[in-house]
Amino acid sequence: MAPSPPKLSTLITWLLYFVPVYIFILDPLIRPFFPDNSSSSSWEDEDGSAFEEWDHTPSTLHLTDDSFISPEDGVPVNCPGEAEGYRVHLLSRAPLVLYIENFVSSAEADHLVDISLNKYTPSIIYDGVTERIDPSKRLSDRALLDRDDTVRCLEDRARAFQGWRPHLYIERMWAQRYNASGHYRHHYDWTGSLARGGDRLSTFMVYLGADCEGGGTNFPRLRRPVGKAWCRFLECDEDEGAGGMQEGITFKPIKGNAIFWENLRADGTGYPETWHAAYPVTKGTKVGLNIWSWYQPPKRRVGR
Ligand SMILES: *[C@@H]1O[C@H](CO)[C@@H](O)[C@H](O)[C@H]1NC(C)=O
Repeated sequence: MAPSPPKLSTLITWLLYFVPVYIFILDPLIRPFFPDNSSSSSWEDEDGSAFEEWDHTPSTLHLTDDSFISPEDGVPVNCPGEAEGYRVHLLSRAPLVLYIENFVSSAEADHLVDISLNKYTPSIIYDGVTERIDPSKRLSDRALLDRDDTVRCLEDRARAFQGWRPHLYIERMWAQRYNASGHYRHHYDWTGSLARGGDRLSTFMVYLGADCEGGGTNFPRLRRPVGKAWCRFLECDEDEGAGGMQEGITFKPIKGNAIFWENLRADGTGYPETWHAAYPVTKGTKVGLNIWSWYQPPKRRVGR
């Protein structure tokens, strides 16, 4: 006997259940994967013209400005093959934190240190409104790197590492030099400004020079994986670091290696676990390189 079709009253009852389930459960669940309902998904770009979209960005974020980001401008990139031999280790899934051995070769690191030498000025901090120098929070010098072949290779490597993700823009790179007593207090790299046009989706913290003692990169809200294997890269000795007072995990500065982490969740909010600091250098000099990737959600364009 064929099953009889459901009665109208049953259908209405189902609908009454489904509507709140959709509004309160299903839609919020799938929304982060479809940040905008236009025809193109956030992972594909129609024609590579995404750069033009910065024109709609509030000027306060400087995202229209190629002194601030590194646009893909068609200049050919010729990278030495041997520099691509990095090794990746997973430290945390959420937030995503990866440790990358040999992200830059020794020759690349030395070159980047060389080209930064005559360009250092005191580092600033930015509180969302103004930029200022505050040695109690941040004591280091920074240098904006010219986009030479090595820098362009690194931009390329950073894009490839993140799957050539569209709507992602590499900020112009800054070398950071920490002398003895140089440090950077705990802070976030994200600002929660996605709704105003863009925010720093991810950070590569690359060690270019590590002829120093101290100077570890501390994440008080991340936990050290069990076992001793990570002690190659993390301070495991309780007496190491800031006088044994450290919380969470502290990466040792190792030339050529990098920490990569994602600052933003899929819905654009920042991860509190990315709170981090550069512990004071106690001896020698540390040179770091930040590679920040900005994400700007695709804009809805009228008439498409
Ligand atoms: C770091 O040392 C260099 C070279 O001695 C010096 O020019 C620079 O001013 C120092 N920076 C800081 C922040 O102390």
